[in-house]
Amino acid sequence: MDIPTGTLTKYRMFIGGEWVDAASKEHFESDNPFTGKPWALIPKGGAQDADRAVRAAHKAFTSGEWPKLNASKRGALLRKLGDLIADKAKFLAEIEVRDNGKLYAEMSAQTAYMAQWYYYYGGLADKIEGHVIPTDKPDMLNYTRYEPLGVVAAITPWNSPLLLTAWKLAPALAAGNTVVLKPSEFTSASVLEFMKLIEQAGFPPGVVNVVTGFGPDVGTPLVEHPLVAKVAFTGSDRTGTLIYQTAAKGLKRVSMELGGKSPNIVFDDAHMENAIKGVVSGIFAATGQTCIAGSRLLVQRSIHDVFVEKLVAFAKTAKMGNPMSLETQVGPVTNPPQFKKILDYIDIARGEGAKPVLGGGRAARPECGDGWFVEPTIFTGVKNSMRIAQEEVFGPVLAVIPFKDEEDAIAIGNDVVYGLAAGVWTQSMRRSIMMAERLQAGTVWVNTYRAVSYLSPFGGYKRSGLGRESGQEMIKDYMQVKSVWISTATEVPNPFILR
Ligand code: NAI
Ligand code: MG
Repeated sequence: MDIPTGTLTKYRMFIGGEWVDAASKEHFESDNPFTGKPWALIPKGGAQDADRAVRAAHKAFTSGEWPKLNASKRGALLRKLGDLIADKAKFLAEIEVRDNGKLYAEMSAQTAYMAQWYYYYGGLADKIEGHVIPTDKPDMLNYTRYEPLGVVAAITPWNSPLLLTAWKLAPALAAGNTVVLKPSEFTSASVLEFMKLIEQAGFPPGVVNVVTGFGPDVGTPLVEHPLVAKVAFTGSDRTGTLIYQTAAKGLKRVSMELGGKSPNIVFDDAHMENAIKGVVSGIFAATGQTCIAGSRLLVQRSIHDVFVEKLVAFAKTAKMGNPMSLETQVGPVTNPPQFKKILDYIDIARGEGAKPVLGGGRAARPECGDGWFVEPTIFTGVKNSMRIAQEEVFGPVLAVIPFKDEEDAIAIGNDVVYGLAAGVWTQSMRRSIMMAERLQAGTVWVNTYRAVSYLSPFGGYKRSGLGRESGQEMIKDYMQVKSVWISTATEVPNPFILR
C-alpha cells in the first residue's frame, strides 16, 4: 500500500477492506516536523470518500460476519489486535515521530501501552449484561439488552494519533459497532499503517475504515452522514463546537475530548524537587502539545520567588533536538500553524505585561536545524484574567500565577472555561482530599501529573468536553439499551388501556 515515489511515501486510504485512492485522485503532503520537509503523500479525501466509507461501515454492521460474531469472539479479535500492536509498537512509534515530531521515547512508550486498551475492552466485550426487570405487571417478562449503535465516526487530532484512536476504536468495536476513522491531516500515516494490523487480526472488511483529508472536506460530510450514529471527537473546542452543532441536526450522539488550561497548584508545604519535576512534566513534556498540559502554574506566594528560580534553573537544562534521539527532552512543534500560534501567544503575553523569565521565542539552537522548535518558555507576573492564562496555547509556554491561600488557589484554579485536569502539590492529606473535591476538573492529580490509564475515566468538565473515555462505564456510551416485554398471559386484556 505504501508505494515510494521519489523520496515521498505515498499512502492509500482503507475502505471496505481495500486500499484505495481518494475519489479526487489527489494527494497532499505530510511533513516531518524535525526536518521541516514533506515525507509522505496522503490521499485528499472528500464527501464522496466519506460516503463510501460510511456505506462500507454500515454494510459491515448490518450484514456479513461482524453482526454474527458473539461478544466473546469480538473480544478475541481485539486481544489479537493488541498482540499485533505490542509486536509492532516500535515501528508504529517511528512513524508517529516522523509525522508529529514527538519524542521517540514518549511515542514508543505510548504505542506499547496502547495495546492495553484493546486487551481491556476485548475482555470487557462479553461482560456487558442486560437485566431482568422485577416488573410490576402481572404475567410479564421484561428484560434489557445492550446493543451497539451502528456506525461510529472517530475524528482525532495530531498530538497522539494512535493512542487517541485506541481510546475510541477499542470500546466502539468491543460494543459491536463499526467505525470510520478520520485522522488529522497533519498525522495520517500512523493510522493507515495501523490498518495493516486490522487486516492481519482478521476483522471483516468494512468494520474499520479510514478516510484522510482536511476537516471541512471530509470531516464535515462524515459528521453529516445520515448513516453515522455517533461522532467521537478529540481536538480543539472550536472544532468540537462545530461538530456538536452539525451532529445535532442529525440527532447523533457525540463524545468530545476538548482542550484545557489546567492549573498545576504548588503549596508551600510541597516537596519542592518533586513539584518542580511535576511542573516541568506538565508543560514541557510533549512540547506542551497535550490537552492535559499544566499550562498555569499556581504557586503559593510565600515560596513563589524561590520556586520559580529553581524551576527556571531545571527547565533550562532541557535538551532539544532530534526527537528520535533518546537524549532529547523537548522536540519540535508538530506543524507550522501550531508553531505560529505558539509564537503569537508569546507575543500576546509580552503585550499583556507578563515577564518572560525563560525562553520566549523560536529555538535557534544548532541541534534544532530547520525544525519548528520553540524554546521552553516561562512567564511570571501573569494575572489569571490575561489571555495567556485563559486560552489554550498547546505549546511549551507556562504562565505563573501567585496565590495567597487555599481559597485563592481554588478560585483561580476554577476561573477558566475549561476543566480537563488539575495538579496539586502538597504533603497535607487534608488539603489533598479537599482540593481534589473542590477543583472543577475531570482529572485531579495529587503529587503526580500526566498519569492516564485504560482503567480510569478520562474527560472534561465545562468546555473541556462531553462524556468520558477509558474505564468500564463509558462502553455504554457506544451502546443503546433496549427494553423487551414478553407477555405470558393467555388472553390480551382491555386493548383501550395503557398496560
Ligand atoms: P482541530 O480540532 O481543528 O482538528 C482535530 C480534528 O478535527 C482533525 O482531524 C481535523 O481534520 C478535524 N476537523 C477539523 N475541522 C472539522 C470539521 N469542520 N468537521 C469535522 N472534522 C473537522 O485541531 P487542529 O486544527 O489540528 O489544532 C488547532 C488547535 O486545537 C491547537 O492549537 C490546540 O489548541 C487544539 N488541539 C487540542 C487537542 C486536544 O487533545 N484537546 C489536540 C489537537 C489540537
Ligand atoms: Mg506530519
